[in-house]
Amino acid sequence: MNSENQQKNKEHYDRLYKTGQVKNILHWINHLDSFLNSATTTETSWFAIYKNNFKDRIPGKKVLEMGCGDCTNAAIMAALGAEVYANDIADSSGRIIEVLNENYKFKYPIKFIPGDFIENDLKGNQFDFVVGKAFLHHLEIPLEEKFLRETARLLKKDGEARFFEPAVNLKFLDELRWHIPVGNRPSKFQKEKYREWKENDPHPERSFSSSHFERVGKKFFKEVEIHPVGTLERFSRLFKWGEKQNKFKRWALRVEQKLPSALNRSFNRSQLIIYRQPHSINN
Ligand SMILES: C[S@@+](CC[C@H](N)C(=O)[O-])C[C@H]1O[C@@H](n2cnc3c(N)ncnc32)[C@H](O)[C@@H]1O
Repeated sequence: MNSENQQKNKEHYDRLYKTGQVKNILHWINHLDSFLNSATTTETSWFAIYKNNFKDRIPGKKVLEMGCGDCTNAAIMAALGAEVYANDIADSSGRIIEVLNENYKFKYPIKFIPGDFIENDLKGNQFDFVVGKAFLHHLEIPLEEKFLRETARLLKKDGEARFFEPAVNLKFLDELRWHIPVGNRPSKFQKEKYREWKENDPHPERSFSSSHFERVGKKFFKEVEIHPVGTLERFSRLFKWGEKQNKFKRWALRVEQKLPSALNRSFNRSQLIIYRQPHSINN
């Protein structure tokens, strides 16, 4: 591991993930259908990653998850019958996977790949899917390129990579967002507090635009598809947490897909990025 940003991510997420979270994950994988019905209709990241029937396409398939985090998605995919390999820079993710494997009879126990994934010794051309949920945007751009190169190397020729990431396609909208305080994030108007918060934030300064993900994807894949998410869903923040908010989210995620693509491409908050047909990469 060689950058300050990677060290910051490791420390931040090692502190965040606790094996105590496994109790919730076990409850969700024991109630798979109700978890997925709710998550994929109300939470943008689940909505996007599971879009177009992903759930039914993975049983028996070999899936690699990059930046698996608290391992909820790795566990859900494994409970659906996929053979899951998972990596995260945080060692605490590996401890969660150990406890999950001890407490649930997955068809294929989840395999954790610890440490710097770029140093992995997995053989190429073996995965049906590579997924990353809110992962790529944590990488500085040169490292992101290495991860995408690895994705192309590891995927089978007819394999598919799916990444859910934030989207910033209109600069002014993004600036506006940083000036509105949310949770523990102060407004950019509060200069000193904002600077302190930014120092501890594990996100590097970099592009999150859809055209960036298209450009970098084209280096390693013949086919790149961007699905904008959140043009209407972003307004769910105006509601208090609860059923009214969820009802709005369900409506917004359904209806916004019918909006003109130019509108979605400008006002979306997030995006599903799909890469297919990897260029051949030698080790
Ligand atoms: C926002 S979290 C998302 C976690 C999870 N995928 C989810 O949807 O909840 C980003 C994750 O990327 C991981 N990460 C950041 N840099 C990494 C790197 N260089 N290699 C592997 N994982 C990394 C972090 O440790 C963190 O778990």
